[in-house]
Formats: sequence, structure tokens, C-alpha cells
Amino acid sequence: MISDAIETTQCQQKDPVDLFHSRHFVKICAPMVRYSKLAFRTLVRKYNCDLCYTPMIIAADFVRSVKARDSEFTTSKDGIDLNCGCPQRWAMAEGYGACLINKPELVQDMVRHVRNQVENPRFSVSIKIRIHDDLKRTVDLCRKAEAAGVSWITVHGRNIEERHQPVHYDAIKIIKQNTSIPIVANGDVKTLKDAENIHHMTGTDGVMVARGLLANPAMFAGYEETPLKCIQDWVDIALEHGTPFTCFHHHLMYMMERITSKQEKKVFNVLSSTSAVLDYLNDHYGV
Ligand SMILES: Cc1cc2nc3c(=O)[nH]c(=O)nc-3n(C[C@H](O)[C@H](O)[C@H](O)COP(=O)(O)O)c2cc1C
Repeated sequence: MISDAIETTQCQQKDPVDLFHSRHFVKICAPMVRYSKLAFRTLVRKYNCDLCYTPMIIAADFVRSVKARDSEFTTSKDGIDLNCGCPQRWAMAEGYGACLINKPELVQDMVRHVRNQVENPRFSVSIKIRIHDDLKRTVDLCRKAEAAGVSWITVHGRNIEERHQPVHYDAIKIIKQNTSIPIVANGDVKTLKDAENIHHMTGTDGVMVARGLLANPAMFAGYEETPLKCIQDWVDIALEHGTPFTCFHHHLMYMMERITSKQEKKVFNVLSSTSAVLDYLNDHYGV
């Protein structure tokens, strides 16, 4: 089984399920392998993100290895999400991730099992799915998860084969209309305006973003591109958390993609130490 842990914006101390009652729509940072670690989650929370997912965690590794636990599960006491959306070949071959959308009874069982393991009824148990070509099967899956007590469902509006094809927001709307629990829309949201439009278009209770937040961690606060203040915040937070250089540098490459020229990228992207990056940022941006 693979899953992602969830944490809410700490300063608000809200239970994740409460957020769906108290927000116009909930703004969510998606699970991202290698990227949605504690330092990055701290950054996006500073810029109006309500709820964050850790990268996916493989249950067997988590149980077996202290290293896996320390690296992937930094903090979170708020909830667990069962990953039924990862289409990577290795995950599908192992029976994990998106192939679970074809086993609705198993998903129902897993939700029920996790729910029964945790005494606190406010602990959230959610799932993240992709859609079927035959949407009736997705609605059936969602209803089964709902009957098992799932707290909410995130729908990446693509099927297992689709990568860059347009997101089927109409399918997400139909799922929302046919269930009574919070539904979160996911796929191709790049700005706060996009998030608002998709919330209106689908009637969903939240919007989850992955690549849009990598490119601009301040997007939920309404910024069209990464503000310099956000880059400064990332430097401060990442250094405070002892973020490994590659992760620190990769995030900056993503964040600065839209605000640097080709020439600047050629220099910045090959820097190989934290001090070289800090010097570059200071010289070019006064950060
Ligand atoms: C770098 C990266 C890592 C990802 N890792 C995960 C993951 O660990 N678990 C998961 O369920 N989805 C993962 N995804 C998929 C995203 O959560 C999301 O469903 C997908 O990227 C569509 O959203 P977007 O259009 O906002 O990027 C990842 C996506 C990216 C770009």
C-alpha cells in the first residue's frame, strides 16, 4: 500500500475535515515525491495553502526502515491518504497506486480498516484517485469509499494512461454530484484564478495543486509568479530545516523558471553548492 500523510496549516490548528466546512474551498498542496517535504510545506503554508500532503510513503518501507520513516514522514498527526492515483509502472506492477481504482471492494476494505485502527474519529482517512473511461465505475468506487467512512476524495481528472491530455473537469463535476462527501479537484491548476474557476465549474470543495505550486509556491496567495519575498522565505526555511542541497537547488530552479532568462538558467542550474547559490541570489536579486 502507498499513502501520503496530511497536515493542516499549523497556525490555524484545524482538523482537516473541519476545513471543508469552514472554507469557501480548501487550497491543497499535492503529494509530490522528492518535493512536498516539510520545508516546502512550511513555505506554501505561509502563502495561504490550507492543507499539505507529504510525498507518497510505501507502507512496507515505512515499517521496515528508520531511514525511510525519517526522510518521508517528518511531522503530521492529522490524517492519512491512500494513494489510488499513481500511474507509474512499478506501482501498478506491485498492485499499488492507480490500479486500485479497478478494485473498489479492496479500497473500501482499506478505508474501513484504517478507520477502525485509529480511535480518534477526527483523524481523516482520504483517498486520491484517477478516473475510469467509464465514469460509472468511478462513481461506484467513490460511493463504496464513502460508505466505508472516507473523509474526502481527491480526483485527478485523468485516466491511468493520460499524461498531458486535458483534464476532464466535467467528470469531476459528475462525481461531486453523485456523492455526499467533500470532493477535491486536481489537475492543471496554475493560478488562484484557475483554482476559483475550477471550483465554480465542478462544484468541488477543494482544489489540489502540484506543478503550479512548484513553479510558484505563493500562487494560493494570488501571486501570478513567484515573488522575491517567497524566494527569500524558501532560502530561510530550507536552511533552517537543513534541506539537502539538491532539493534546495531544484526547488529554486522550479520557482525561478518563469522569472529567469535562458542565459541566467544556464549559469544558475549548474551551480553545485549552497554558498554558490546564495552568492548568485544575492548578486542578482539582492536576496
Ligand atoms: C514531482 C511530482 C511528484 C509527484 N508525486 C506524487 C506522489 O507522491 N503521490 C501522488 O499521489 N501523486 C504524486 N504526483 C501527482 C500529483 O499529486 C498530481 O496528482 C498531478 O501532478 C496533477 O496535478 P497538477 O496538474 O497540479 O500537477 C506527483 C506529481 C509531480 C509533478
